[in-house]
Amino acid sequence: TLPQRVKIVEVGPRDGLQNEKQTIPAEVKIRLVDMLSDAGFPNIEAASFVSPKWVPQMATSAEVMAGITRRPGTVYSALAPNMKGFDAALAAGVDEVVIFGAASEAFSQKNINCSIAESIERFRDVAEATKRHGLKLRAAVSCALGCPYQGEVPVAAVRDVVARLRALGCDEIDIADTIGVATPRKVYAAMEAAMREFPVEGLSGHFHDTYGQAVANIYAALEVGISIFHSSVAGLGGCPYAKGATGNVATEDVLYLMQGLGIETGINLDKVVDAGQFIAGHLGRPASRAGNAIAAKR
Ligand code: HMG
Ligand code: MG
Repeated sequence: TLPQRVKIVEVGPRDGLQNEKQTIPAEVKIRLVDMLSDAGFPNIEAASFVSPKWVPQMATSAEVMAGITRRPGTVYSALAPNMKGFDAALAAGVDEVVIFGAASEAFSQKNINCSIAESIERFRDVAEATKRHGLKLRAAVSCALGCPYQGEVPVAAVRDVVARLRALGCDEIDIADTIGVATPRKVYAAMEAAMREFPVEGLSGHFHDTYGQAVANIYAALEVGISIFHSSVAGLGGCPYAKGATGNVATEDVLYLMQGLGIETGINLDKVVDAGQFIAGHLGRPASRAGNAIAAKR
């Protein structure tokens, strides 16, 4: 039986926008986050405190955090790869700090400029500081289902990094298909490996939709008991260190799926469609499939 309720983490303002070439003004990002807050998300990944040389689009993160209207009941998250990022995230008042590692050595080097083992050591300080300040700690495992540089990623590598992240005290761990190459059987295998090291309630599925498999992969993850999923409004996104990878699975598509399955999310799909139309309009590109279909019927 599938879970009766799932938590959807909206990652559009961070994962969705980080790779945009055109500079998006902070006011637009703030408006987007406010529209998403109003839709009722339990968690919005709103910012990323990384090097602006590496990811220029996220340079306005402090401004965005300062400008949004916080909805009680929504957790606002931000990425922080090191103590510099943590200090900025703390000053910005985030509720949840996200450290991000990888199951692939090659990707770890490209994305955060260090080995997996070194990343765990860097994260240790961030994790301790996060806990000391009473904030939530989440960790992403990139390339858990395939890597743009090394190809196949063994499930043993996923299991190993999940165990190391658990030891840092993570509340949640994201199993990420960074480049959207997975198909359902791979998802079963990766999730089952992760579940050997971490409680299933705290594992999430973070699927990119490059090959159009993300909704199928979410269904597969539901079947093994995963109840947290990440998605981007309008299917925005891509990763600067994963060439050719497209955005996250679209939130509108995921909400339509959940609605059809009778799985509760607590999120207002119509308001998400509005947010999708707003940001897609700003960027001058189409919103998601479900988003466009719903908007067309109005
Ligand atoms: P580095 O060059 O090894 O680090 O970068 P460094 O400590 O030597 O610092 C170099 C420069 O960056 C210094 O500035 C630092 O001050 C500055 P300089 O002295 O040259 O002027 N710096 C910072 N500035 C602002 N905030 C910071 C920060 N840290 C250092 N936090 C580092 C290492 C990790 C910082 C760098 O590689 C980086 O920022 N990478 C960004 C990676 C990234 O954001 N990737 C995309 C997000 S991950 C993702 O999308 C995947 C996910 O969605 C899941 C999935 O789908 O797989 C989460
Ligand atoms: Mg991602």
